[in-house]
Amino acid sequence: MKLLVINGPNLNLLGVREKNIYGSQNFDALIDMIKRKCDEEGIEVELFQSNHEGVIVDKIQQAYGVFDGIVINPAAYTHTSVAILDALKAVMIPTVEVHISDISQREEFRKFSYVSLYASKTIAGHGFDGYIEAIDWLKNNIK
Ligand code: DQA
Repeated sequence: MKLLVINGPNLNLLGVREKNIYGSQNFDALIDMIKRKCDEEGIEVELFQSNHEGVIVDKIQQAYGVFDGIVINPAAYTHTSVAILDALKAVMIPTVEVHISDISQREEFRKFSYVSLYASKTIAGHGFDGYIEAIDWLKNNIK
């Protein structure tokens, strides 16, 4: 199985940004944890982070026919990006959406997610473990 893990804007600043919300572990720790998990499960994984909406759209388009599943934390684009939603709908790759924080318990503008309109599952508020749960879900549900 081949998985693509996409992290959106400002997630590269984990460990620096709003530690009270996102914790003190940095982005490298997140990457290491995902790589270790995929190694253990025998999953081939590519990790991708961008602060740019169009670059994320390009990456999703390029995933067509290449990846079996996508784990995506679209970060702020969760709440704004019809383009990322449309890209996911276009390639039709099974997708799990992850948020480190519980977006349902934060500001009003974070409560709506465009990506949720396509994602098979959304995991929010479980910290870094949410990515592990997303990988497990895809492993168990991709035929
Ligand atoms: C986030 C939640 C978003 O609202 C926010 O813009 C982020 C991170 C999370 O992982 O909790 O950048 O996706």
